[in-house]
Amino acid sequence: MVLSRLPLFLVPLLLFSFLQSPTFAIKKSYVVYMGGHSHGPELSSLDLDEVRHSHCEFLGSFLGSYKKAEDAIFYSYKRHINGFAATLEEEEAAEIAKNPRVISVFLNEGRKLHTTRSWDFLGLQERDSSISSESIWSKARFGEDTIIGNLDTGVWPESKSFSDDGYGPIPPKWKGFCQQSGTNKDVVRCNRKLIGARYFNKGYASAAGTLLKSSLTLATARDDDGHGTHTLSTAGGNFVPGANVLGFGNGTAKGGAPRARVAAYRVCWPPINGSECYDADILAAFDAAIHDGVDIISVSLGGAPSDYFQDGISIGAFHAVKNGIVVVTSAGNSGPDAGSVSNVSPWLFTVGASTIDREFPVYVKLGNKVQLKGQSLSASSLPAAKYYPLISGAKAKAANASAKDALLCKAGTLDPEKVKGKILACLRGVNGRVQKGIQAALAGAVGMILANDEINGNEIIVDTHVLPAAHIIYKDGLDLFAYINSTKSPIAYITRPVTQMAVKPAPFMASFSSRGPNTITPEILKPDITAPGVSIIAAYTQATGPTGEKSDERRVQFNSESGTSMSCPHVAGISGLLKTLHPDWSPSAIRSAIMTSARTRDNKREPMLNSSYVKANPFDYGAGHVRPNRAMDPGLVYDLTVKDYLNFLCALGYNETKIKSFWEEPYECPNHVRLLDFNYPSITVPRLSGPTTISRTVKNVGTPGTYKARFRPPPGISVSVEPLTLKFDKLGEEKSFKLTLKLKAKKAPAASNYVFGRLIWSDGNHYVRSPIVVKAA
Ligand SMILES: *[C@@H]1O[C@H](CO)[C@@H](O)[C@H](O)[C@H]1NC(C)=O
Ligand SMILES: *[C@@H]1O[C@H](CO)[C@@H](O)[C@H](O)[C@H]1NC(C)=O
Ligand SMILES: *[C@@H]1O[C@H](CO)[C@@H](O)[C@H](O)[C@H]1NC(C)=O
Ligand SMILES: *[C@@H]1O[C@H](CO)[C@@H](O)[C@H](O)[C@H]1NC(C)=O
Ligand SMILES: *[C@@H]1O[C@H](CO)[C@@H](O)[C@H](O)[C@H]1NC(C)=O
Ligand SMILES: *[C@@H]1O[C@H](CO)[C@@H](O)[C@H](O)[C@H]1NC(C)=O
Repeated sequence: MVLSRLPLFLVPLLLFSFLQSPTFAIKKSYVVYMGGHSHGPELSSLDLDEVRHSHCEFLGSFLGSYKKAEDAIFYSYKRHINGFAATLEEEEAAEIAKNPRVISVFLNEGRKLHTTRSWDFLGLQERDSSISSESIWSKARFGEDTIIGNLDTGVWPESKSFSDDGYGPIPPKWKGFCQQSGTNKDVVRCNRKLIGARYFNKGYASAAGTLLKSSLTLATARDDDGHGTHTLSTAGGNFVPGANVLGFGNGTAKGGAPRARVAAYRVCWPPINGSECYDADILAAFDAAIHDGVDIISVSLGGAPSDYFQDGISIGAFHAVKNGIVVVTSAGNSGPDAGSVSNVSPWLFTVGASTIDREFPVYVKLGNKVQLKGQSLSASSLPAAKYYPLISGAKAKAANASAKDALLCKAGTLDPEKVKGKILACLRGVNGRVQKGIQAALAGAVGMILANDEINGNEIIVDTHVLPAAHIIYKDGLDLFAYINSTKSPIAYITRPVTQMAVKPAPFMASFSSRGPNTITPEILKPDITAPGVSIIAAYTQATGPTGEKSDERRVQFNSESGTSMSCPHVAGISGLLKTLHPDWSPSAIRSAIMTSARTRDNKREPMLNSSYVKANPFDYGAGHVRPNRAMDPGLVYDLTVKDYLNFLCALGYNETKIKSFWEEPYECPNHVRLLDFNYPSITVPRLSGPTTISRTVKNVGTPGTYKARFRPPPGISVSVEPLTLKFDKLGEEKSFKLTLKLKAKKAPAASNYVFGRLIWSDGNHYVRSPIVVKAA
């Protein structure tokens, strides 16, 4: 799986070449998934041994001996998830997959990893100061005693965000602990705030091979990367006044549920082939977190979307949701391509990323008097307040490099003779943004202007560049390069960054945020929601510098990062608040509340835009942008039970015998079950031909009242709702309605493209909004 932070730099391929040396066995590591356990969660160590024993016996029947099976198995999933991870030959794996007790067998694959101002922007408080008694923070007691677990790169336990000053005893339901590696250097001390820290590395070690295992000691939950510390503190970090990055963005840092207890589950390690988190470890962490007693699991990583039971996050999350735990995941950073969204299982809460209204402007002054506004978090300024010679990467190319590569300021493409003492203009893309700055500095540049390529448009990401820098939008980049072309001796100046608030428009979608449609089940809209994920300031590790580069010897308590990895824990924190406020709500009720209360307009009260400043749509933002204060009182929710999820799998044609093994209770696939009727808070009909009627059920979680339906039909589609009013007499009451969609004409716009509309149920006080997404067959 991939951590979904935007890489600051490209991963060096050192490990890769190291691993390419010939291997003598064709064994690979696999996960053998066997559904749920029929035993209850309260297991003695004797029972746990029994589970492992049964896995060894089962595998032994394929491998020829119990001993061989014992050697092959490196994880036995014992508590909630039933299955094991083992090193097997391909033929053995294929044989095991045929066994009726087995649901799926899949390769232990690598996945990738995908602050201060954002909470003010979400309306939880006024400009870093007063918190209204109407804020969800006040109402939900800042998420007091909700437990948030994070599957990531671990935690920097000494960060002030995890200080336990003023915390009472750990909630008695907690069964987790602080796992030690044995070496003193890596001791991780938990406290009443950071109540758990564990690590899972066997799947990683197995994928990396023996050579890697012996050369690295990877046995600690201590975060040497920064990603896990950043995401965990965004979800549940404490209030820390005076937090800033190199002096910028100074304010009080805090997580979404600042009084929550937090636990780190480390499943991500230094990348092999660009992947750092492995399925076998992810499953082990889910099994542990469910057992430990977390309420919310935040997972800022993912891989390519795949079958629901061939994917560690999907399987682990299914068991978590079955146990009442909300699982929030990042949508991925593969946007803006259509169909790039990952983590699409219907039990996941999938989060896209958008901007907030804070900027760190710097100005680029050109010799022709044109001034371009950029952004950066460079701490250093140009040596003197004067114009410097300006050169483009292409013009500064080394004799052996192409102009195209040099324009990207790739390593080894720049001629220091040409760059020295100048401001270097680089194009965004291919190699990392911070890496370009490092190359510029290595070649002797005094500053760098980083111009967006067309696809990134207006999306600016602030980075702690190692030299004075300005990141500018695509259009301004064209002006910059035109100026450079227009004169023999171009000159420029870059000002020092300042911190600026209330910037408009915000939010708009980040271009990197992965987009719908959902390529696995197009009937389920993904992503579900968008939240702040661009230039987010949160806690950081002390093991590495803010750029993550070896050569960067600076250390920061807080750092700015961007990615759906950053938006995911925002929603995890808000889910934690709702859990404190409504302990009896199911994971899907919490998701529904956050989705149906989302907004689709920005701070100019205009429709939310994408990074080309063109109107965005539900494939970009799902139901819209989170609005936590509204989510606490949504009026109605679209609820889902474990049985609904099983029916969903029936509707997809999953084998009934296998579906039964996910659940301890008797279960049969219903006779007529349609994906379209799955009670999701959004409505998607990907193949509309004749008139199509879908049903939904809403549950009253507010006051008694009468709700009326209003809708904005997608262009070319007629919509009708029956009944048009729903009267609720009491809390918890459920009412169903039917929504019928018809193509108005054969050649309607929907004939070729997806079109978008909206359904709103309102009692005049609550507004329960669902996006409607339709494409003609
Ligand atoms: C479902 O799986 C079971 C167990 O593997 C198998 O016996 C059965 O034939 C399968 N049914 C269908 C319809 O494929
Ligand atoms: C940040 O703000 C705090 C409180 O207003 C102040 O005491 C501190 O000096 C500021 N730090 C920086 C680096 O601006
Ligand atoms: C790395 O990726 C390449 C190409 O995708 C693949 O052939 C190779 O097996 C991978 N190596 C490891 C260690 O996963
Ligand atoms: C060009 O030559 C330099 C010096 O020999 C080397 O470091 C660099 O990698 C080369 N660049 C390319 C693109 O081959
Ligand atoms: C500037 O000149 C280069 C090289 O001649 C050319 O490729 C590029 O398109 C020009 N850029 C602009 C914005 O005119
Ligand atoms: C913004 O939306 C327009 C219209 O759908 C599309 O053409 C453009 O590629 C989008 N830009 C980005 C960066 O998503």
